[in-house]
Amino acid sequence: MLSNFETATVAHTKGPRLSGQAAESVINSKDFDAARVEITAWPGYAPTPLVELGNLAAKLSVGNVQYKHEGPRFGLGSFKALGGSYAAFRVLQRELSKAQGYTVPLAEISDEKFSDFASRTTVVSATDGNHGRALAWGAQRLGMPCRIYIHAEVAEERAEAIRSFGAEVIRVDGDYDASLAMTRAEAAANNWFIVSDTSWPGYTDTPRDVMAGYGVMVHEINQELECAPTHVFLQAGVGGLAAAVTAALRQHWGADSPRVIIVEPDLAPCLMASAKAGKLTVAPIFNETLMAGLSCGEPSQIAWEILAEEVSDFMTIPESLVAPAVRLMAKPIDGDPALEVGESAIAGLAGLICAATQSGLRDKVGLDESSRVLLIGSEGVTDRSSFNEMTAAA
Ligand SMILES: Cc1ncc(COP(=O)(O)O)c(C=O)c1O
Repeated sequence: MLSNFETATVAHTKGPRLSGQAAESVINSKDFDAARVEITAWPGYAPTPLVELGNLAAKLSVGNVQYKHEGPRFGLGSFKALGGSYAAFRVLQRELSKAQGYTVPLAEISDEKFSDFASRTTVVSATDGNHGRALAWGAQRLGMPCRIYIHAEVAEERAEAIRSFGAEVIRVDGDYDASLAMTRAEAAANNWFIVSDTSWPGYTDTPRDVMAGYGVMVHEINQELECAPTHVFLQAGVGGLAAAVTAALRQHWGADSPRVIIVEPDLAPCLMASAKAGKLTVAPIFNETLMAGLSCGEPSQIAWEILAEEVSDFMTIPESLVAPAVRLMAKPIDGDPALEVGESAIAGLAGLICAATQSGLRDKVGLDESSRVLLIGSEGVTDRSSFNEMTAAA
């Protein structure tokens, strides 16, 4: 069952681990707290399950494996529901506050008296699917127009899910970077507000809000754990998820914070390239990975600032592990619970299994029988036909 992982070609690089304060200075506990107070008050809020994969842990000879399953998050299918939606609230709050001349509290921005203002405040973003769905959902609840730019490879099922929240979906020829370029050009021409999950020089406030929203996951995890995990395997696209989780863990657990291992597709290794170069580095995408949410050529600037200081190890995994890992969750080892998860959710899991079963790697990432491993299962099934194909295969 695990033989694909034992023999897979996996790259590994040590992190630069610069000493510093980025896990507090780039995004601080007040940012996380404000997001948590707002998001946990939304209708339909419920913590997502932290699932113990005890039999997998035994097979891997580690102490335990905890999998935070984000599939049920707000009925939107992924952890992204926490980020883009909250960032839309913050855009409206900022713009309203400028117009009113005082800081309008988040609790008041959806008041009837501001509805006309909201209907004139358009938010836009490029997306592979999950972020766009989250933004469209947030914008719809506030009555803000929303335009989502998707690239040629985004599944129509994901586009439909975005439209179902009232957003206009614009399909752009080319890859994610082409859709981002179009978003930036049209936003600048029309005075629309970009709500991106990635940051670049001069554009950091909104991506920080997105990351602050992700902190809700870590808060929920911390409530359930009696002691800190020793390892966290985090899949990454632009690195926002990984940086938010890393910073929130560091702020909570301090020196006991887990060792952070980043896992990327070998088709989209921009964080590993940055680790090797010792600075933020673009790694162009030549072929799209099945892990659509991780198909990013350029790290988020503020995410990289945190990751450069906190990450011990960077790994890349091949495409051949995606279907086996999705299948392993759907048809698990012995008594572990079965979970329906998407392709981007399993990179951390696949990285863990490779690290635990390949002897050279096991030592490099310091896994042993006492290791307590945390995984973020970042999405449920967002492309049903792909899931059916993967789980039908032998
Ligand atoms: C399901 C899923 N997991 C992980 C990620 C990676 O997040 P980030 O781009 O912040 O690294 C994404 C991004 O879209 C995603 O959709």
